[in-house]
Amino acid sequence: MKFSLLLLFLFLLISNGVVEARTHHLVTDDSKYLTKEALWFNQTLDHFSPIDHRQFGQRYYEFLDDFRVPDGPIFLKICGEASCDGIPNDYTSVLAKKFGAALVSLEHRYYGKSSPFKSLETENLRYLSSKQALFDLAVFRNYYQESLNAKHNRTNIENSWFVFGVSYSGALSAWFRLKFPHLVCGSLASSAVVLAVYNFTEFDKQIGVSAGPDCKAALQEITKLVDDKILTDGNAVKALFGASELKIDGDFLYFLADAAVTAFQYGNPDALCSPLVEAKKSGKNLLDAYASYVKDNYQEGIQTYDQQHLKKTDLSEGSGGRLWWFQVCTEVAYFQIAPSNDSIRSSKVDTRHVSFLSLVLFLTSNIRWILMTFKS
Ligand SMILES: *[C@@H]1O[C@H](CO)[C@@H](O)[C@H](O)[C@H]1NC(C)=O
Ligand SMILES: *[C@@H]1O[C@H](CO)[C@@H](O)[C@H](O)[C@H]1NC(C)=O
Ligand SMILES: *[C@@H]1O[C@H](CO)[C@@H](O)[C@H](O)[C@H]1NC(C)=O
Ligand SMILES: *[C@@H]1O[C@H](CO)[C@@H](O)[C@H](O)[C@H]1NC(C)=O
Repeated sequence: MKFSLLLLFLFLLISNGVVEARTHHLVTDDSKYLTKEALWFNQTLDHFSPIDHRQFGQRYYEFLDDFRVPDGPIFLKICGEASCDGIPNDYTSVLAKKFGAALVSLEHRYYGKSSPFKSLETENLRYLSSKQALFDLAVFRNYYQESLNAKHNRTNIENSWFVFGVSYSGALSAWFRLKFPHLVCGSLASSAVVLAVYNFTEFDKQIGVSAGPDCKAALQEITKLVDDKILTDGNAVKALFGASELKIDGDFLYFLADAAVTAFQYGNPDALCSPLVEAKKSGKNLLDAYASYVKDNYQEGIQTYDQQHLKKTDLSEGSGGRLWWFQVCTEVAYFQIAPSNDSIRSSKVDTRHVSFLSLVLFLTSNIRWILMTFKS
């Protein structure tokens, strides 16, 4: 599922959890990384307990080629809700060259290889939160500073630290600067989702604006066709989109909504809109045109929309979906549900569906989290 992270608009930022694999895809090629050499340090599991001293191994990376030893600034790139496989060669490396900065990057707890537990049942997810993650960053920042000082035989020296993040990690970046102003000189919070919105209907509305009237009308017509067809022959319409494995209609409709959304979120609207508007003009079958787009562009990661898959508690490459849903259900919401009027996505993508999902995914072993969800 394409868990999306790199967005252009605040509105477009957080997908339900569907964001991660996509980030990952942007940087799979080794040559696009400055380093993929993992380093480890021992992190506190629960920053808010005075008696629990358990630790877990947290993965991080450093890139020192441009560092003005020993006093250059340190850029801390915050990894968000996905496996953090290295330091990508992006604009921050341009900045690092310019300022003689060291680049370091910390994997977010639970994601990738930084999981404190071997199994991800709800009870074990209790330490997964943005609040814990912020303290992870603070502890790491001090640990790294001390290591650097030790390396240079000095004490009580502070380099200038800056934090960087995008989307959820953009929010962490902003919050980090607010919460720990003494630890960091500045924060770049790119497309940062700093406002947790429960009924995030603005997301769908922004898609309508971004799509423009013709493409929006085509997408709405498709939604209507799918909504009708799913009542009479759900299996056939799912098969048409290569999504037979999504047994639950709500999962399927969420998948279809995201399939369209990501074209706008990741800056490739024409790939979606041109064939749809064309099909509409020439009287071709709109459903077929959309199905063809979805099959060509949005098939990978389809299982991350599948509740059966999201329920799985074993640690795997695909765990990110479950982990992000947990954060969504307990903290940040951003439920991208249909607005009551003029929606693009199906009106069946509603709070009932996402609440149900929260319940199904996390209730089984522990009810507390779900209560939090409903209260939040
Ligand atoms: C982390 O803790 C383990 C177990 O106590 C220890 O063996 C290891 O050396 C520690 N690693 C670091 C980097 O301190
Ligand atoms: C730090 O001190 C040790 C022992 O005095 C010395 O061997 C080493 O070269 C020093 N390192 C630096 C970077 O000055
Ligand atoms: C969200 O929308 C639902 C109806 O879909 C409504 O019952 C609920 O009160 C709304 N919650 C918030 C926090 O706005
Ligand atoms: C619903 O949306 C349509 C199309 O944007 C608009 O013309 C209409 O005024 C809206 N109705 C309400 C009740 O907001």
